[in-house]
Order: sequence, then C-alpha cells, then structure tokens
Amino acid sequence: MSRINRRNFLKKGGALLAASSLPLSLVEVAFGKAAPENFTFAYLSDSHITHIKGKEFVRNWDRGLIRAVAEANLLTPRPDFIFYGGDIAQLGKPEEIDHGLELLGALHGDLHHVMGEHDYYLDLGEHWRKHIGPDHYSFDHKGVHFVVLNSILTYDDWTYNRWDSPMRRMQEMARLDNPNGSPFMVGDSQREWLRKDLDKVSKDTPVVVFSHSPLQKIYKGWNFWTEDAEQVQALLEPFDKVTVLYGHVHQIQYNQIGNISFNSAMATAWPWPYPASFTQKASYLPKLTVDMNRADPFFERDATGWQFIDLHTGDVDVHYVLPDNRNRTVAFDDSKGHPVDTEYQPESKRIPPQTHY
Ligand SMILES: [Fe+2]
Ligand SMILES: [Fe+2]
Repeated sequence: MSRINRRNFLKKGGALLAASSLPLSLVEVAFGKAAPENFTFAYLSDSHITHIKGKEFVRNWDRGLIRAVAEANLLTPRPDFIFYGGDIAQLGKPEEIDHGLELLGALHGDLHHVMGEHDYYLDLGEHWRKHIGPDHYSFDHKGVHFVVLNSILTYDDWTYNRWDSPMRRMQEMARLDNPNGSPFMVGDSQREWLRKDLDKVSKDTPVVVFSHSPLQKIYKGWNFWTEDAEQVQALLEPFDKVTVLYGHVHQIQYNQIGNISFNSAMATAWPWPYPASFTQKASYLPKLTVDMNRADPFFERDATGWQFIDLHTGDVDVHYVLPDNRNRTVAFDDSKGHPVDTEYQPESKRIPPQTHY
C-alpha cells in the first residue's frame, strides 16, 4: 500500500475511532514491489475473561473483547485474517476459555491463536489445545512466512514438582510481580522445530513471528521476558527482515535487535504500568504489592487503545491510537536502523515513574 493510500486508510481508521476506542490492532503488510500482494490482518490480545460463578463473568473484561470483535468486523479493508495474542482466560478455567471463544466466535474471518500463560498453567494447555488446536505452527500467506510459538513454558521442575494444586500453580504465575513464578521460555523441542521450519524458508522471505511473551528480555521481575530469547533470535538472524509481534505486556513497547523488529500489542482488558525499562535500574521500578495494578487505578482504560502496524519492505511503523492520550507514531528510522518515537520526549519533560501500592 502506498503512503498516500495509507493516509486514506488511516483517515478511515480515524472515522471509526470517533465512534469509540478500539482495543485492537490492524497490521498492514506492505513489502514493496517484490511482494506479490499487500494485505492487512487484525490483532486482538489479552482479554483475561474472568469467571465469577455459574454464568457470571467480570463484565469489564467481557466488554473489552466484545467491543474489539465488533470493531474488527467493521474494518475496511477487510483483514485477511485475525490474530489473537493470548491470555484469553484469567485463570485458565474451561468456563473462561469457552466464554472467550464464544465471544470471539462473532468475528468474521479466520482466527489464529497464540497461547498465553493465563491459558496454560491450570491444566497445562489441555482445554485450550482441545478447542483451539496446536500451540506452535507456521503458515505462508501472500509471500510472508508466519510462525506461531508458545513462549510461556518454563522449567519442568517449577511446572511439575512445586505445587500442591494446579490452581495454586496458575495463581503463582498469574501475578504481575510473581515472586514465586518462573521465567518464560520457548524451550529446546520447540526451538528445534523452529530451526527445521525455517530451514525451508528462503532468507529473503519476510518472516513474522507471533509469541505471547516478548522474545527479548525487558524486565524479569514482571516476566516481560523470555529466558531463551537469544537462542530464538539466533534462529531468526539469517533472515533479511523479521518482525516479532507479542501480547502479554498490556502496553506499548518497541525495539530493534539486529534484523528483528519487536512490537507489542495493547490489551482489551487493562493496562499494566510501565516498567521504566529505559532506566533498567531496579530501584526505579515500582514495588507492586497487589495483583491488579493500573497506571491510573481510577481510569480503567488508561493506556489501552489500538494501533496500525505498517511493515514497509519488512520495516515496522506503528501508529498508536490512544483514546485518552495523544496519539503516537513509532516509525522505523532507516538512518538509525530501528523504530523511534516520532514525538520523543526528553527526560526533563517525562512524567516520572509512578509509585504503586
Ligand atoms: Fe495478559
Ligand atoms: Fe500474559
């Protein structure tokens, strides 16, 4: 899609936005002349459907997903497919996965899923796999190789030997500041599968990888982290252009490591606070003592929103549409070789990291 067309495309997005805030992403794949056909896909993530009792579910989280599905069905142009980025459930309960899938069932179009830790650690993904399918696979679409990974596995000892009940295991992993949790990983067998899968792909084919946790190390204390990230990155390193799209962090993140662009998706449920990752100093990080924390606890939608993602010749531009904040663009800067916030704020103008209790 050309720049001019993209502007029109974004204007259409703006018109839609006027109706409501949209907790989804529309990803535009525009690989230039070499690609046979440009296309779009939509991205929804992290709905955390929460069962109360009987047929009762937490209404706010239901409504976030219902709204995203409704908006996705109105998108023009129609996305070729829709991707769900994981954490459909809050505590992995069959009722939560079933209810989430029922709400997603209203989507028009093919749906792909990635496994989140909230979907996994109750029954180790049994119900999810039974109703959704395999947790890692690849497919080709209009000249792009797409890979889905399950990045939220961890050490066998933690998974199998530590907990007296599956629910206890789930709850220990479900917290943001999970002091008894364990770092996420893709694991040996899946990395071996990935190596074989990528063997068949030519190095100039654009590769897009979906994971739930970031395939990079951002902040271990909150599991914004994948333990074997470097090993996965090494498998992706030979390709000209790679994009990793992930959920889990419920906030805007972007990064560039070598040939790999990283972009997060926002959540339909709630935002997590920022880990002040620009400092990487433990002392600047908020001390979390409660399970559900928000950047602004009085505004449940703070930092949720939606985004357009353009992949120009394999580079990523993301247009973040934040309903109650100034919209931002994070564009790939050729001269710098990585994505940059086009309205970069010097440190003196930033709102300092908040204290959370
Ligand atoms: Fe999540
Ligand atoms: Fe997650």
